Amino acid sequence: MREFFFWMRESHFGEYMRDQQWAFSICESIHFIGVCLLFGALLVIDIRMLGYARKISIPWALKLIPIAIFGFAINLITGICFIFVDPFQYFTNPVFLIKMGLIVLAGINAIYHEVACKERICALPEGADTDTRTKWIAGISLLLWTLIILCGRLLPQFSIEG
Ligand code: HEM
Repeated sequence: MREFFFWMRESHFGEYMRDQQWAFSICESIHFIGVCLLFGALLVIDIRMLGYARKISIPWALKLIPIAIFGFAINLITGICFIFVDPFQYFTNPVFLIKMGLIVLAGINAIYHEVACKERICALPEGADTDTRTKWIAGISLLLWTLIILCGRLLPQFSIEG
């Protein structure tokens, strides 16, 4: 793993990301746009899954999922660009490791929602309340993504190297 981190840091791309301040700033802005798309879409979906905003139809809310996935893809790509700057700085940062762990948990929660609830909740009549299991999944989703955003903001404060 150490060799791979060295390769990342010493690569042309890593050097470019370090030398060109604007490249890092642009990635930060795009990362932020990704957060907005992901969290914005999830907020509508999860609020409906919690049983609020019942005027929104469940199939309509679920049509926002591709926007959330697009936002996540943007975050993944720009996040990897940040890591190229100095992988050691990030992988020795406990908050970064917590953030990655929380992303995995949020992903598992989203897949569980897709497999265990989606079909059932789509069959509910217009304006109906959702069941307890769906509410739990939505609550956990909101909590995890909020913590992920918080970890993103806290990264510099807990950086050990650099
Ligand atoms: C999917 C993989 C992801 C990776 C590898 C990643 C990586 C990173 C890194 C390395 C930073 C620090 C940049 C710096 O040093 O200034 C950062 C910042 C941040 N990340 Fe991520 N991230 C990912 C996904 C996400 C997601 C899904 C969210 C939220 C939903 C998120 C929210 C944030 C926030 C709010 C910041 C702070 C940005 C700032 O202060 O300008 N990240 N991310």
